Amino acid sequence: MGYKGKFKVWRGDASGGDLKDFEVEINEGEVVLDIIHRLQATQAPDMACRWNCKAGKCGSCSAEINGKPRLMCMTRMSTFEQDETVTVTPLRTFPVIKDLVTDVGFNYAKAREVKSFTPPKDLKPGEYRMQQIDVERSQEFRKCIECYLCQNTCHAVRDHEENKDNFSGPRYLMRVAELDMHPLDTADRKNSAQEEHGLGFCNITKCCTEVCPEHIRITDNALIPMKERVVDRKYDPLVWLGNKIRRR
Ligand code: SF4
Ligand code: F3S
Ligand code: FES
Repeated sequence: MGYKGKFKVWRGDASGGDLKDFEVEINEGEVVLDIIHRLQATQAPDMACRWNCKAGKCGSCSAEINGKPRLMCMTRMSTFEQDETVTVTPLRTFPVIKDLVTDVGFNYAKAREVKSFTPPKDLKPGEYRMQQIDVERSQEFRKCIECYLCQNTCHAVRDHEENKDNFSGPRYLMRVAELDMHPLDTADRKNSAQEEHGLGFCNITKCCTEVCPEHIRITDNALIPMKERVVDRKYDPLVWLGNKIRRR
């Protein structure tokens, strides 16, 4: 059975904006993205939102719903009370372009800073051999749909704009960890994780893991192991000795 629901949607652009109230029809089985589309069709034709698949796979429709970072297409209206006002606002960590659309260019810039997979120079195509266990370890990280909900949520950038230059965020630290765990990668990921990607900014609050729609265990399986790898290297007595000799 359909009902009339109450929505508040943030409308505005880079110069400012406000929450606007709407009363809108809601039908059984609908998700928040359906309601935004209905508002566009019936009351606010110029309301901007980004979406593509409506199946939780393209990562485009990220927004904050009642203050929680979520995919609009995967948030069922049945999870709210019928008399509850549902508030939809753009991702807070990135600059607003218009209404629910933000400029997520920060993430593309950080992606470009991760050095690509670097196999041994003498390895020829066909000689790339890996153990199944090494393949499986990275499968989890490969489920990422680049929705940037984790990037939006991590307090290290959400509450500290000034950290953006020096911190790549959970999604790209996870990429660094994935490459470091790759048995054929030869690049020095441990130093770059600390010095270029800001691994030290992460204090393991696990908020990134909580919001990941793909349920990737970002903190436990990527960030903490990466921290351990960095520490192992730092306190490895042979590395320590080598560094000392080199410094002389
Ligand atoms: Fe989204 Fe999860 Fe990928 Fe982060 S790790 S961008 S939350 S899918
Ligand atoms: Fe941020 Fe996730 Fe670490 S939320 S602090 S990157 S555990
Ligand atoms: Fe593709 Fe929501 S529209 S993830």
